[in-house]
Amino acid sequence: MAISPSSLFPSLLLVVALAASALVGGGSAAFACGRGSPAAGLPFCQPGLPIRARARDLIGRLTVAEKVAMLVSRPAGVPRLGIPSYQWWSEALHGVAKVGDGVHFGGEYPAATSFPQVISSAASFNASLWELMGKVVSDEARALYNGLRAGLTYWSPNVNIYRDPRWGRGQETPGEDPAVSARYAVAYVRGLQQPSGGARGFSRLKVAACCKHYTAYDLDNWNGYDRFHFNAKVSKQDLEDTYNVPFKACVVDGKVASVMCSYNQVNGVPSCADPNLRRIVRGQWRLNGYIVSDCDSVSVFYNEQHYGSRPEDAAAYALKAGMDLECGGFLGQYAESALRQGKVSEADIDFAVTHTVAVQMRLGMFEGDNQPFRDLGPRDLCSGAHQSLALEAARQAIVLLKNRAGALPLSPSRLRTVAVIGPNSDATTTMIGNYAGIPCAYTSPLKGISSYVKTVHAVGCTGVACAREQPIDAAVEVARHADAVVLVVGLDQSIEAEGRDRLDLLLPGRQQELVTAVAKASPGPTVLVIMSGSPVDVSFAEVDPNIAAILWVGYPGQAGGAAIADVIFGAYNPGGKLPVTWYPQSYVDRVPMTNMAMRPNPSTGYPGRTYRFYTGPVVYPFGHGLSYSKFTHTLALAPSQLSVQLVGSRTEQLNSTLNRAVRVNHARCDGLAVPVNVDVANAGDRDGAHTVLVYWRPPAGHAAATRQLVAFEKVHVPAGNRVSVALVLDVCTHLTVADAYGIRRIPMGEHSLEIGELTHTFLLEADTLPRYK
Ligand SMILES: *[C@@H]1O[C@H](CO)[C@@H](O)[C@H](O)[C@H]1NC(C)=O
Ligand SMILES: *[C@@H]1O[C@H](CO)[C@@H](O)[C@H](O)[C@H]1NC(C)=O
Repeated sequence: MAISPSSLFPSLLLVVALAASALVGGGSAAFACGRGSPAAGLPFCQPGLPIRARARDLIGRLTVAEKVAMLVSRPAGVPRLGIPSYQWWSEALHGVAKVGDGVHFGGEYPAATSFPQVISSAASFNASLWELMGKVVSDEARALYNGLRAGLTYWSPNVNIYRDPRWGRGQETPGEDPAVSARYAVAYVRGLQQPSGGARGFSRLKVAACCKHYTAYDLDNWNGYDRFHFNAKVSKQDLEDTYNVPFKACVVDGKVASVMCSYNQVNGVPSCADPNLRRIVRGQWRLNGYIVSDCDSVSVFYNEQHYGSRPEDAAAYALKAGMDLECGGFLGQYAESALRQGKVSEADIDFAVTHTVAVQMRLGMFEGDNQPFRDLGPRDLCSGAHQSLALEAARQAIVLLKNRAGALPLSPSRLRTVAVIGPNSDATTTMIGNYAGIPCAYTSPLKGISSYVKTVHAVGCTGVACAREQPIDAAVEVARHADAVVLVVGLDQSIEAEGRDRLDLLLPGRQQELVTAVAKASPGPTVLVIMSGSPVDVSFAEVDPNIAAILWVGYPGQAGGAAIADVIFGAYNPGGKLPVTWYPQSYVDRVPMTNMAMRPNPSTGYPGRTYRFYTGPVVYPFGHGLSYSKFTHTLALAPSQLSVQLVGSRTEQLNSTLNRAVRVNHARCDGLAVPVNVDVANAGDRDGAHTVLVYWRPPAGHAAATRQLVAFEKVHVPAGNRVSVALVLDVCTHLTVADAYGIRRIPMGEHSLEIGELTHTFLLEADTLPRYK
């Protein structure tokens, strides 16, 4: 028997791995095109030439086997051209993470700044914060790369729509709203990717980000369904106005360098074999970058979903669909035989490799030691400024859900002792959620609160599961003798995680019993702090008169405990808002997690999903969040009437206005950006930040969202002051609905804008002007 490539492969990998590990921590850089490289002087090594020409030059020099070896996430390199091996898989969801094989903390590089989990950062509704965090993360990523401890290709952020409150990975996302997710994607990706200062042209990348997981992936493991086998049945309408919105924004506006396809199928086609990768992501959205599989996706769709009768078919499906890089080894094993069998062409392989190599060149990986950002090093990890931003981000992430009779903030000088109780009261790793790294340091809630007042501590539950025998009585005793109680309860990765969806929305085990008993025993105010990525049905606490205040802190990152204490004791005025609807338990009793439909179905009683479509009871609505101040809105400027001119032929125009909704591509869109100005007054006695949320309510009759957030802006308003906020609505992007074919249309008729307590109505009609040429 001939020696198969697969039996050669492991030993090759071993040699390369040894060579790479010898370099870790050493001084010499493992970059292509360095001094003494056999390729020095060749066109692909010349930074002055266009990337496209350099990539073409390199591809032209490679053998088929060398190119096939580049289709996988751990290519061995091409020693004869001085190209070192590379690990594509690094992660930086909310700080450089240790997930993925590309990052190795240690030595002079022991840790990185750990920001709040994404769902928490989303609660800040502050796009400049998102971008700034991306910038800090990419500074630290470059520092690690310079120390040969990380790659430059980061498979973050996760911008899937948080569709169902049970999803174990909802914590990784910016929430349920497509507009917020889109804005988050663009801001964070810009922060990661954009080289500032010393930039050499627009196409240069500081690090390469990746928006994942395209598309409609948001079920991990629920009730016998898992992500490796799940076929998400999604309507064209939901794809267009919900699932694809953040991906499109990430590519079109964020100019992301990569998109990852997912494990699941969408309407019977595995995402990584879906020709829409090439047609939509690369074709329509014009991705300038590479498409990577989720890890082992190709093997998963071949072996688990039985898509393709031979492995070569599966390899061909992926390459033909437009996947350029596989996290795993399937293509390394089968792409060459697929080529021999005529299932793919060499051009298909070149097409893929061109995209990955071009990204490496934009990162500067083919410029020898002459790397951009060479000045970033160990002192840039966990710098004072970076750690302050982690604290600031945690403060901005905190959402005040309930504050009975202004119970908060507490005044530390009036309290002799505060009891700090609960399974998350001294949390450390729980605070950083998943896809995390090694943080610089932790401030747990107990530590944070202890820096303001004298504390007594009891866990009450030995872990978040809180089953069977628990030290609840001891906690009640501790509460009885304190002047106030802070109860920190909630979830952790043992309850919600990748590969682990929840079955219910309640506090696990006996946590509710602990909360109720402690609050009853406490002679002073009880503050309930919920630490969780996903919503919890805490309606019992909302109505319990013994519970003075409730905070949701998400997974607040390394500085979480300091931020929690700053809010409780009034050093920081909370301004976060919920990025997801908090449903009651009865919601998940009625709704199978497998139903992907966003829209309600009156004939089956299906209630629909998220604030955009679901109109039933909630524990707390999307956008809810109190402050220690009171903000009011006045509308200073808004349209009273709008008209849209039509373009195209008479027939097109007639057809286009069917059902009183104009196809966007039959509308003359220039000049249809409408200013909306809002004045925000702070009637309280504390300075504070407030996010103006502008919701649009389209005319009835288009199976559209009842309300859709179309703009938001966070502003700082000093006590007793007024600040004016200028927003812009673009008719052709914001005021559109998707029809049943997924085609965007502008509905005619009465539209409203809802901003806080204000409602403003205006009429939008199609103009009957002569035909536009
Ligand atoms: C009208 O539009 C629909 C799609 O919206 C299309 O399928 C149909 O062919 C159009 N009819 C004409 C006459 O253009
Ligand atoms: C948004 O975040 C940035 C970065 O932390 C901060 O400087 C700014 O004040 C925040 N905006 C508001 C209105 O709070």
